[in-house]
Amino acid sequence: MTRSAGRLADMTGLTPLADITASRDLPAAYARLRRQYGQVAPVLLEKGRQREINGWLLLGHREILDVVQDERRFARDPNHWRDYAQGLVDPDSGLGPMMFPRDNAYFADGDTHRRLRAPLDEGLRELDQHAMQRRIRAICTELTRGFVGRGHADLIAEYASYIPMLTVAGTMFGIDLDHGRRLRDGLLALFGSGTDSQDGYRDVQQILGEVLHARKAAPAGDLTTAFLHHPNLRNDTEVMQEMLLMISAGYETTAIWIARTLLLMLGDPRFSGNIRGGTLGVNEALDEVLRLDPPMTHMPARFPLADCQIDGRRIERGDALILGLAAAGFDPRIHTGDWWQEIDNRSHLGFSAGSHTCPAKIPARLITRVAVETALHELPGVTLADPQAPVPLIPSPWTRHPAHLHVVFPAADRLRTAAVPPGPPATAVP
Ligand code: HEM
Repeated sequence: MTRSAGRLADMTGLTPLADITASRDLPAAYARLRRQYGQVAPVLLEKGRQREINGWLLLGHREILDVVQDERRFARDPNHWRDYAQGLVDPDSGLGPMMFPRDNAYFADGDTHRRLRAPLDEGLRELDQHAMQRRIRAICTELTRGFVGRGHADLIAEYASYIPMLTVAGTMFGIDLDHGRRLRDGLLALFGSGTDSQDGYRDVQQILGEVLHARKAAPAGDLTTAFLHHPNLRNDTEVMQEMLLMISAGYETTAIWIARTLLLMLGDPRFSGNIRGGTLGVNEALDEVLRLDPPMTHMPARFPLADCQIDGRRIERGDALILGLAAAGFDPRIHTGDWWQEIDNRSHLGFSAGSHTCPAKIPARLITRVAVETALHELPGVTLADPQAPVPLIPSPWTRHPAHLHVVFPAADRLRTAAVPPGPPATAVP
């Protein structure tokens, strides 16, 4: 069955992807799209100065798997994106950071991807989980000490937004706090759309150069040392690209996973009951977030290498296919919609699947679990400041990053040493 012969490029007036992402009722938004279009819905990615840039949003669990598991037919490299190759996407487009090609594993296919991916998988496998857990707990405890005496905090700006940088850069790569802070500022400048982007890149290169220099002189049991010695990486530039990719890919995703899990634990009676002796715990909350509100709501992108059909819809070579990772969690063909039956169901696509699936599932879960447990432990009696208020989001087509998470708790008379000063939340920066 062919649902429609309509070409993506000719469609106008489509729903902006960012509006779907920001929907207050995600399942209802996806159900509407499914009724109208089936498992593949055309959406507006960006208005653009030259013309509207459209993409297909894959809504079905099966359809997403079929695409991500078939790299011979669906490329990751954005040079295969027709609109980009034809120069139709504005050079300063907001889609750039997530959709323009760069020389790293994230945007590579085939042999190049396998060569660059192996050091990530092997390095992560070698990490000492127990040592990591101890260090993550210490970092999280230190952060809570910055506000535990105050009786209120914003757990995004003062907690969740710092943890990925401090744990991934600090714990996995052995980057000290001072370099970590400078790196964070450089990354925010580099991937922001401001005029300081070039300066940001120079800073990032200089900081990582200093870190490499130190590790060459004194090797350690961290990922920096592992990358420096990996035969697949040909020079310092490739080592730096791998480090940058890991730090940036884990940045916003982990912050959101922490924030969303805390929101469930504090705001949903099925979970908050547990803190006070009730039903479901942190592990169930972590899984529910991955399935129903995963950190990457919509993941860019795959590009068909030839015209094809998905769920009966004609897709042209070079169209952008966006992975509806959150939509898959509401696919009525595999999920019941009854949360009692879905407890322990890990058939989510929160980490995507196929050759590009997130290589850091285990450390990311460790960081998030420890961060959530530590906040609950160090802030006894913590509750949401305004449980009825809707959660404001940082606008994005890709993520549902809470803008803040205000909590209150009985002020404790504990040591008050802020580990890092409060600052803006992280942004997605692969
Ligand atoms: C320690 C934190 C993390 C690190 C270091 C990390 C690292 C990475 C890297 C290097 C990639 C690119 C892999 C490739 O293209 O071969 C990736 C992809 C990805 N990661 Fe993570 N990640 C982290 C946390 C997370 C979290 C918390 C989530 C969400 C639950 C997540 C979801 C994804 C997704 C959806 C992809 C894309 C897969 C695709 O394109 O199909 N990551 N991650």
